[in-house]
Amino acid sequence: MRPALGFGLGLRPPHYAAILETWPAVDWFEIITENYLVGGGRPLHHLDAIRARYPVVMHGVSLSIGSTAPLDLAYLASVRRLAARCEPEWISDHLCWTGTDGSNLHDLMPLPYTEEALAHLCPRIDRVQELLARPLVIENVSSYVSYTGSAMSEWEFLAALAARTGCRLLLDVNNVYVSSRNHGFEPRDFLDGVPVAAVQQFHLAGHLDLGTHVIDTHDAPVRDEVWELYAHALRRFGPLSTLLERDDNIPPLEELLAELDRARTVAQHALSEAA
Ligand SMILES: [Fe+2]
Repeated sequence: MRPALGFGLGLRPPHYAAILETWPAVDWFEIITENYLVGGGRPLHHLDAIRARYPVVMHGVSLSIGSTAPLDLAYLASVRRLAARCEPEWISDHLCWTGTDGSNLHDLMPLPYTEEALAHLCPRIDRVQELLARPLVIENVSSYVSYTGSAMSEWEFLAALAARTGCRLLLDVNNVYVSSRNHGFEPRDFLDGVPVAAVQQFHLAGHLDLGTHVIDTHDAPVRDEVWELYAHALRRFGPLSTLLERDDNIPPLEELLAELDRARTVAQHALSEAA
């Protein structure tokens, strides 16, 4: 795995034309794996053209690594085929479950943070890593509920997963903030509790603050509280690959390029302070 790709954007269909016309100064793109799993067609055609010029990371949403349903081997085979085609720097998905007994919740549900859950997850991660022939990169989700049975913090759980399976971690700084507000923990404790060597990448995104709780919307610019937390993450983890996500209210590409420049500025300041 390459150590750091710089500052990237989530590749979204409304931006295909602008990217192919202007080849913007984006260091890398992250694709939603599931959008490119059907053979042929326009999405893959655009991806091939973009991949020829930029590094790409594959980010999945339907692995459901935490589910008690068996791993979907057909899905994993299609992920592997796509990886053979676009040669991603790495492949990520979420620490969650998305359904069970054949029904899909279309949401990324959190897990109980217990030894029992670790014992369930670790062999599944091992198997996925075997099938994909590379370390899996796992992202912390934002959450709104927790389990009374949890016996450790989310960050202790992530650290144990990384130690036991060799998986890498994608720290979504916005998700850390959103969950910290919803569950009442100190977001810096989360970041400080994750082992530095295990972290591969950062995510940044916008959220909606309703006062009593916070919703992870990905439909607005990154908020100041998250920029501050991102600066803290950079001081702890160093200049890791940073990805800006926007999934709703998608603005013209230039707006996201300007926001990516803000990430570059925050990083420059945070890293010079750390030095
Ligand atoms: Fe994310």
